[in-house]
Amino acid sequence: MFPYNRHRRLRKNESLRNLVRETHLTPNDFVLPIFIAEGKNVKEAIPSMPGIYRHSLDLTIQEVKEIWNLGIKAVNVYVKVNSNLKDNTGKEAWNPDGLMQQTIKEIKNAVPEMVVMPDVALDPYSIYGHDGIVQNGQILNDATNDALVKMSLSHAEAGADFVAPSDMMDGRIGAIREALEENNFPDVGIISYAAKYASSFYGPFRDALNSAPVDMQNVPKDKKTYQMDYHNAQEALREVEEDIAEGADIVMVKPGMAYLDIVRLVKDNYNIPVSVFQVSGEYAMLKAAAANGWLDHEKVMLESLTAFKRAGADMIFTYFSKEAAKLLG
Ligand code: PBG
Repeated sequence: MFPYNRHRRLRKNESLRNLVRETHLTPNDFVLPIFIAEGKNVKEAIPSMPGIYRHSLDLTIQEVKEIWNLGIKAVNVYVKVNSNLKDNTGKEAWNPDGLMQQTIKEIKNAVPEMVVMPDVALDPYSIYGHDGIVQNGQILNDATNDALVKMSLSHAEAGADFVAPSDMMDGRIGAIREALEENNFPDVGIISYAAKYASSFYGPFRDALNSAPVDMQNVPKDKKTYQMDYHNAQEALREVEEDIAEGADIVMVKPGMAYLDIVRLVKDNYNIPVSVFQVSGEYAMLKAAAANGWLDHEKVMLESLTAFKRAGADMIFTYFSKEAAKLLG
């Protein structure tokens, strides 16, 4: 009781604050999402994501070496697919010589210890900008799962450490796990986007890959029939439970900052590594405010990243990985 209890004693100076600190952020916590473009010596800016680029494979390799030296040990890979390769089957997604497959191979050759986690979903390959096959105004679940299985196997063949299905079809974790086992990839892991919400914070990402749902008759204009309704929390537990039962090694909550309650709920209810994705719109918001001089960039970046760990995340997918790693040293 006051005055004997004075909480401020523990905050007196930085040394004391460090002694009692509960959460520690290090570059080992980060997974950097990277965007790959066709061509050579290509570095294309993404206007809604200042500081993030689509790099061709040659420049990607340089970048991967650089981030490795900063202490970042994992990348989550996305490719920008040429329009002429897009269709409604996604077949380019499992082309053994596709841009994704080449990227996985080259990163593993250049930096073998880098954990490579390619994205598994059809949207970059879909003429309709959906994560699955579209038919009569619906996104087909089971037919999409067959495609995701082929895609995952092609990533495993190319040398991926983990596959990262971000599509939210039901049953895809079990289908992918079974196929990996049957095809002799027992050590390839699955990081499941288990609680992924239909969010408007994904806008800049869809600019980066030109992958937004198209505005066409008979094509749903949003992803609400497969991604979760952001009003719900209990449902996230059912999603996570199911994915663990099907064989997920790590589960993901996405987006991040507006979903810290979900991160904590998942962490408290299951004994499995939890990841969180600080998505493109969250990155864009902080960048825009900082560019206007309204927020201190470094400080809000570290505060937001630390909040994920405090909420219970074991790892953080963030476009800030490189800048934050530089600061954390
Ligand atoms: C699609 C996918 C999305 C993101 C990662 N994979 C967008 C979406 O679901 O439409 C979002 C990432 C971000 O916004 O940073 N499979």
